[in-house]
Amino acid sequence: MTIKHALIRNWGCQMNVYDGQRMADILVKLNYQLTDDPDKADLVIFNTCHIREKATEKIYSELGRLYPNKPNMPPEKRDRIVAIAGCVAQAEGEEILKKSPIVDMVFGPQSYHRLPEMLEKLGRKKGTKILDLEFPTEDKFDALPATNVTYMASSPKPVTAFLTIQEGCDKFCSFCVVPYTRGAEYSRPAAKIFAEAENLLQQNIQEITLLGQNVNGWQGMGTDGNQWSFARLLYGFAETFPQLKRLRYTTSHPRHMDDELIRAHGELPLLMPYLHLPIQSGSDNMLKAMNRGHCRDDYLRIIDKLRASCPDIALSSDFIIGFPNESDKDFADTINLVNQVNYASAYSFKYSPRPGTPAALLTEQIDEKIKSERLQILQQLLNAQQKAFNLSHIGKTLPILFEKHGKHAHQLIGRTPYLQPAYADLSDTKIGQEIDCVVDTLTAHSFAVKPIHNAA
Ligand code: SAH
Ligand code: SF4
Ligand code: F3S
Repeated sequence: MTIKHALIRNWGCQMNVYDGQRMADILVKLNYQLTDDPDKADLVIFNTCHIREKATEKIYSELGRLYPNKPNMPPEKRDRIVAIAGCVAQAEGEEILKKSPIVDMVFGPQSYHRLPEMLEKLGRKKGTKILDLEFPTEDKFDALPATNVTYMASSPKPVTAFLTIQEGCDKFCSFCVVPYTRGAEYSRPAAKIFAEAENLLQQNIQEITLLGQNVNGWQGMGTDGNQWSFARLLYGFAETFPQLKRLRYTTSHPRHMDDELIRAHGELPLLMPYLHLPIQSGSDNMLKAMNRGHCRDDYLRIIDKLRASCPDIALSSDFIIGFPNESDKDFADTINLVNQVNYASAYSFKYSPRPGTPAALLTEQIDEKIKSERLQILQQLLNAQQKAFNLSHIGKTLPILFEKHGKHAHQLIGRTPYLQPAYADLSDTKIGQEIDCVVDTLTAHSFAVKPIHNAA
């Protein structure tokens, strides 16, 4: 049988990375080999992100860059299949087929499990176009083959993995496309999640990051037949997988940060002391206009409780700058909140109006120049906080989970519990091990570390 090659490119959030991995699981079953080489690929899948305008533009320019001549070729001469998947596919659908004749298939984040049928349909008749944007009633996850973590990675085998436990969003923040591209909130049953985790552990995975657009909003059927909360699921992980070294989760919503979950951060050594908890703005006016469903004080109260439960927890957030109507006072409230919380790291973006969202219709859009100025001020502050957080670890001993090779021979790269990258001189055999190391120096955002025992 001839081997076919497939190239999968991911943009956007971790959930897209996970979906890309699952598409690889399907394709390998269909006798595809994965490749990074665009010229070699018989099938190209762009797994796209629609969150900001730039993310969407990149897809079209990348398509043109990789395959510049293809749009002029008659369909019967084309043998390479080009597919657009992910959130741009879900949002723009048929438009993509019209705009880019090079594209053969368009399918969304909830329909990629039907790839085998789609490819079969395409193979039967040259020039066919496939469009599948259904939010199916069947369980996508049930239709997927078991995941194999080696497909997407080159050697060495990965020691960390993502596991999607929750999908979709019912929050409808006024700026955001996710509820439209990913559909309604859905939680997978605990038994299915544990079965997938078990499979990952058998492949030498040491750290699992649970994923969901509102991951801490997970609530589902427990393995005991009762309804479980997200915190209960985390305790379930600790009970079921004593051999697992690290557990993380992202992205969480302040509205689901309940006391039981905050307690879990203090009680579960398995749960890493790092939390990405986006607030978007420090101004109550903006939070209201954004339809976030929480105010600044709600958020600050959660942070206080989290720090009381887990004193060393490192915090991260997302910020949107220049939302319609944002005044100097609103922006000052954001700066003031950042000073109050003191973040270990954070992401900040200029507001980007997205078609179909309520905020895009607001007339009081902020001037680009003001957005840029405010973003720069915020990013300077966040960078300074990140640097101070990192410098506070110099000379301390931290457990580093080593994941892969570094730039130089005998160098390995890993992460601290707080997600900071760290590198040390160590042999390959230490990949997958958590080793206590002294933090020597900080270069850019990574630490040079040394094992406290002679572990090399
Ligand atoms: N579910 C997550 C966010 C997912 S989107 C949450 O509620 O926190 C990831 C981030 O993209 C958001 O936190 C937000 O900061 C940013 N984002 C979303 N829509 C945006 C827009 N229209 N313009 C700029 N940034 C946006
Ligand atoms: Fe978007 Fe808000 Fe849902 Fe997060 S909670 S995915 S920002 S709508
Ligand atoms: Fe982007 Fe879709 Fe994720 S819009 S951020 S890939 S949910």
